[in-house]
Amino acid sequence: MQNLLITGGCGFIGTNFIRYLLSESDTGTSAGFDGRIVNVDKLTYAGNPENLAGFEEKYPDRYHFISADICDHRSVAEIFSRFEIDAVCHFAAESHVDRSIVAPDAFIQTNIVGTFNLLELVRENRDAIKLFHHISTDEVFGSLGVQGYFSEQTAYDPSSPYSASKAGSDHLVRAYSRTYGLPVTISNCSNNYGPHQFPEKLIPLMILNSLEGKSLPVYGDGMNIRDWLYVTDHCRAIWLIMNHGRRGETYNVGGRCEMPNIEVVEMTCDILDRRIPDKNIGPRRELITFVKDRPGHDRRYAIDCAKLQNELGWLPNESFATGLEKTIDWYLENRDWVARARSGEYKKWIHRQYGDAGE
Ligand code: NAD
Ligand code: DAU
Repeated sequence: MQNLLITGGCGFIGTNFIRYLLSESDTGTSAGFDGRIVNVDKLTYAGNPENLAGFEEKYPDRYHFISADICDHRSVAEIFSRFEIDAVCHFAAESHVDRSIVAPDAFIQTNIVGTFNLLELVRENRDAIKLFHHISTDEVFGSLGVQGYFSEQTAYDPSSPYSASKAGSDHLVRAYSRTYGLPVTISNCSNNYGPHQFPEKLIPLMILNSLEGKSLPVYGDGMNIRDWLYVTDHCRAIWLIMNHGRRGETYNVGGRCEMPNIEVVEMTCDILDRRIPDKNIGPRRELITFVKDRPGHDRRYAIDCAKLQNELGWLPNESFATGLEKTIDWYLENRDWVARARSGEYKKWIHRQYGDAGE
């Protein structure tokens, strides 16, 4: 894998993955990758090339950014041939559940049609392609009761338009492997958190609202459980699967870190109270406001990642306590990034760099 196409590399996990491959992440370890990366991203509201600013200059032979839509067959076909792509790692997606409830269209287009388009391109370039790795989610499995875990054998039962679209894309990837013999791997991961996450997701939203003394909206009774994983642990898992995972197989990735949402929010409040006490704001737990529940809100996610551990020796490095502190550090140190991401200001930066892309 020397000419790696990464889709959605300007989003949260894609950015962290590219940084990991180029030894620019906070892991302090090298992924051992010495090839070339071509990052194809449409630059939706969630895509921010500022995350990788200066990389094209720093790595002129190893990092290329191209603004394109994965649904656009012609543009992506040209990228496959121009860069002699020999492997694909597919992150690009509409990723926010709440948005999928309000406006599902883009989710069907990008997550299903976009994945189909990439699979067709892999089929057309099958002699050159060593691997298509598909990044997916634990949400395809639906909701757990109080006991049990999602394994790779758990039946799909998605609840939201987002998770249904991701389930559809997983099925397509598996079908293309079985029908056309394409070399694929799939990973289904639990909730990620860490640097560069768009501040619509629970953890960055709560950090930023707490800092500013704004209300902290917790859906329903706050007892929905998610299994949290620090993003660079996910990135290490992806790279391990791409290099050593069995072709045609699926691997679950999770943090073994189940937490009810209310505890996540309370921990965030307490850390900020300790580190940045503010008399005007007072104890930040008092900002918590229980609001109307998300429709179809899955109650509990928990991943059994024994397969990944037993076959490939992966374990998370970061605990939730250390990972949350690091995440808070990053948001405190990158207030300009936050301000620009929230205001849409970085789109102007995109315009200066890349013309109309992302407008
Ligand atoms: P994100 O929303 O932060 O980033 C998505 C990226 O995809 C953005 O840069 C966006 O511009 C790009 N994109 C969207 N539509 C595109 C299109 N049509 N063509 C090209 N680029 C397009 O998402 P994320 O949180 O980084 O998630 C990345 C992947 O990981 C997704 O496939 C998601 O389903 C999966 N996943 C996310 C999590 C999580 O907790 N965030 C957990 C498990 C799996
Ligand atoms: O499980 C993996 C999934 O995790 C990924 O596939 C998705 O792309 C990613 O967005 C994430 O989905 P969630 O819906 O779990 O993440 P979110 O941060 O939106 O919400 C986490 C939990 O917090 C969920 O139970 C809803 C709740 N929540 C969220 C927000 C934004 C609140 O209570 N209040 C909020 O304001």
